Amino acid sequence: MAERTRLPAVQQPDWGTELAAVVAELRRRPALVTPSSCYSLQRELAAVAAGAALVIQAGDCAERFTDTMAGKLDLLTALADQVEVATGVPVVRVGRFAGQYAKPRSESTETTAHGPLPVYRGDAVNSPDEHPEARVADARRLLAAYDHSATALDALFLRDLLPPFGGTDHPHSVTYASHEALLLDYEHALVREDDLQGGDYGSSGHLLWIGERTRAVDGAHIAFAEAITNPVGVKIGPDATAADVATLVTRLAHGHAPGRLSLITRLGPRLGQTLPRLLDELGPLARDVLWLCDPLHGNNLRNRHGQKTRVVDDVVAEVAACCAVLRDHGLALAGLHLETTPEPVVECVGSAPDLDRRLDHYTTVCDARLNAEQAAVVVATALDAGWGATVAGDSETGSTA
Ligand code: PEP
Ligand code: CO
Repeated sequence: MAERTRLPAVQQPDWGTELAAVVAELRRRPALVTPSSCYSLQRELAAVAAGAALVIQAGDCAERFTDTMAGKLDLLTALADQVEVATGVPVVRVGRFAGQYAKPRSESTETTAHGPLPVYRGDAVNSPDEHPEARVADARRLLAAYDHSATALDALFLRDLLPPFGGTDHPHSVTYASHEALLLDYEHALVREDDLQGGDYGSSGHLLWIGERTRAVDGAHIAFAEAITNPVGVKIGPDATAADVATLVTRLAHGHAPGRLSLITRLGPRLGQTLPRLLDELGPLARDVLWLCDPLHGNNLRNRHGQKTRVVDDVVAEVAACCAVLRDHGLALAGLHLETTPEPVVECVGSAPDLDRRLDHYTTVCDARLNAEQAAVVVATALDAGWGATVAGDSETGSTA
């Protein structure tokens, strides 16, 4: 299965002739994470499915190879602790880090001060520098992505975790690594045998998710997710059909343990129209997945100065609405998926009038991230909306109950 399928794969760079040698080299390298650590996360997510734990998945939109890890881990830990203190429920900590080096893009070119250029696609592909050579996809960057993931995982002691429910010593101190499984040449080259559960697993991170732009049910990304044993996620945007989501649940969740599939909604202002309909049409299938809310990717805006940003008021409105709609359907919000940074930047703004202001503490190379204070506000909103106060399956209301 480690072979790439012939199914259509969108958002893949034009790598050039060096790719074959790079893939051969990646195949020879050791797994970045062990099957037992992926299984450990799977067991924690099964506890979430049972209503006994919650999830925080957070980190950069696009990590840089030059990033250091300590601040990212501290922020994820602070957010998880905030939830645990408020709810008394253990929180599974999943970093959007130690491998989040590739970005799907809506446009293939962008206008810069130096004229039109191919877009930046993440450090695993090209450089954000604004000159033409910097934007050429370079397959050798996949080897650098591997090296930087390895260094980051080592810094976090994440490469071979002990199962947290196996002993009594560290109940919720474990952190896992996740990223978008976008670059299929890289992901397939790192598929290894799962000698614990049988079959194959993706050894590039503990949890791998498929993005909104690559989740076609007849595409190569979903086939990849189907073929690995890791916990997986799929982003769900406002144009997702109930038929497609039902197919995703059947193919990615059924035949696996509870908690294997997280559906990460990113619906923005259309949540109120789309999520109730989706849940109604899914019926009992909606109970076979974890529902995570990404309240950021449906709320992308540009301010008057052309900077990409998000309004925290919009973000908290989506979180509250998501909690309420799930509850109305007898379901519980399992977790939050956030783009965050420990850096003292202001990339997201508080409310709509702030869109007039030019942002000068702004360093993201892709989407606007919540700083620590803004992230804490978003988490507090979810808690105020009842996140963690109900257990999945408790409610007898709604069409799926
Ligand atoms: C992302 O998570 O950075 C992303 C691109 O999200 P989506 O696939 O939901 O647009
Ligand atoms: Co993003």
